[in-house]
Amino acid sequence: MDYINPKLVLETADLEPGEITWKSPSNLAIVKYWGKYGDQLPKNPSISLTLENAFTQTTLFYRPKEVPGPDISLEFFFNEEPQPAFGEKVQKYLARLVPIFPFLSQLDLEIHSQNSFPHSAGIASSASSMSALALCLCSLEDQLFQTLSEDEAFDQKASFIARLGSGSACRSVYPYMAMWGQQSGVSGSSDLHAIPMEENIHEVYKTLHDDILIVSRKEKAVSSTTGHALMDQHPFAEARFNQAKQNTHFLMEALTNGDLETFGRIAENEALTLHALMMASNPGFFLIHPNTLTIIEKVRQFREETKHPVYFSLDAGPNLHLLYPESIIHDVRFLVETELTPLCEDGYYLPDWAGEGPEQL
Ligand code: DP6
Repeated sequence: MDYINPKLVLETADLEPGEITWKSPSNLAIVKYWGKYGDQLPKNPSISLTLENAFTQTTLFYRPKEVPGPDISLEFFFNEEPQPAFGEKVQKYLARLVPIFPFLSQLDLEIHSQNSFPHSAGIASSASSMSALALCLCSLEDQLFQTLSEDEAFDQKASFIARLGSGSACRSVYPYMAMWGQQSGVSGSSDLHAIPMEENIHEVYKTLHDDILIVSRKEKAVSSTTGHALMDQHPFAEARFNQAKQNTHFLMEALTNGDLETFGRIAENEALTLHALMMASNPGFFLIHPNTLTIIEKVRQFREETKHPVYFSLDAGPNLHLLYPESIIHDVRFLVETELTPLCEDGYYLPDWAGEGPEQL
């Protein structure tokens, strides 16, 4: 399946100008995607929690091209300000998509994007922004050619297109939880696009909280492209990819039966493994901050004392994701507000939770 389709060409130049808006969330990987091959394909399967509060809202305006030509004609605005540097990246991405969406080179395009979270919050935005854009592109195809009216086909194509922008973005298309990457025994699993997991998860995960503790707002020291490339020559690569497959297998069981303890054990194991892999890379990177470790110790101590199922995860940076079910929110928020936010930059944290997935506005 490559979606190349030379038939998606506009026959007429008297198309009415139009616009499409999607709001799409970020996601947190519980089993991490770290290492890729080919055209944005993952070296191991990953499973993520779709968030609700951290999202990108993107509007795509289109009209027939004034000056015909094969290039992509695009103006890009972020928070209503022109952003030529990022616009250039998006333009390259759209140019790569022309064999899939040939009509893109027949239009003048304008994209307006904004995030629900502050730019400097240290929260990665590629998953939400690339999935929002991919959803706009699929809606545009459907609007112009009525080719994606079935939800399942629409979501799968949006996930595939999002993946080409940023791997993790392909998982943001689905509500609550999604899985990406081929896994033996899981029918439909694919390296090309994510698959929904809503049908296979216990109710407890549909109200899971993820408080994002912002230990540092600094830009990431290692871009994800550089990070993934470190796995190409990594001495522990094979062991890691096998571990991820095993963790995926056991996490799927824990998702079905509501076993939060196994869920949490895997979430923490994956987070610490991600950072251990980075430290053991050549060159080695150290992306956690001393406060990240202090928070981890406090979370583990709180769990020991209260027996509450509260766990952490990390992305490729110092910020900590605190995962816990709705039933213990009162006690956890007390811990967050009294003991953990003093360890965050400017005392900032972003409360988030399992979300229902993208929404067309
Ligand atoms: C640590 O999806 O940002 O967040 O495909 O190069 O855009 P690219 O990488 P990206 O990598 C995400 C890495 C991660 C783990 C994860 O989200 O699975």
